[in-house]
Amino acid sequence: MTDPARTIVTLDGPAGVGKSTTARAVARRLGWRYLDSGALYRAVAFALLDRDEPSDAWRALDLEALDRLGLTVRPDDEALTILLRGRRLESELRTQDVTAAVSRVARIPAVRRWLLDTQRHAGSHGRLVADGRDMGTVVFPNAGTKIFLTADPDERARRRLGDHGVTTPSPDQIERERLLLTERDRVDMEREVSPLVPASDAVHVDTTELDFAAQVDLVVRLARAAASG
Ligand code: DC
Repeated sequence: MTDPARTIVTLDGPAGVGKSTTARAVARRLGWRYLDSGALYRAVAFALLDRDEPSDAWRALDLEALDRLGLTVRPDDEALTILLRGRRLESELRTQDVTAAVSRVARIPAVRRWLLDTQRHAGSHGRLVADGRDMGTVVFPNAGTKIFLTADPDERARRRLGDHGVTTPSPDQIERERLLLTERDRVDMEREVSPLVPASDAVHVDTTELDFAAQVDLVVRLARAAASG
């Protein structure tokens, strides 16, 4: 039987580099499922903020406490649907409060352990495009295609502002956004569990000047080659 990992594509890299837009477009082109692992960490952050307890207590969370949060994840054909006590979470995951809290949540070992099975389950039959920070190193170490995306920090800041509707940002806005992004990267790179590092066998793609369509084509080509190889 073919190894399902051959049809898994991982896209890792720092914040604002275009992982999710690329991963979503690649998944659509291939007809495979998309896993937005950042959304899972954001959902845990949202559920914890919703409980309204001091964030100092988060570090002591264990797997049983996480089970009690009321989060469920349904692997649908195209992507994962995340529910909190039956209510679907989407735009709630992108608020400033969640964005500000999520790096702290993502460095809690029990949270990473708790989300591992959910992520692996989504790829148990292969045909998955997963984006995040540790997809190629920890979650799917045998993935057939591993990509590590990078881009100049100012360009990443411009893209993030664009995502929030700021199409012609001032130099000050870019500077502020760049500092926020690089601070999040620092926390993600320096944490002890599953830090943001490229897998040794990842293909590095610098997207600073790459046309989006060319970027998607490149990943689709690599994925098809790995799937048939
Ligand atoms: O990609 P994003 O901005 O939605 O990620 C949200 C946060 O979750 C970010 O601080 C990094 C963290 N994260 C992680 O630690 N591991 C992943 N696989 C995905 C995201």
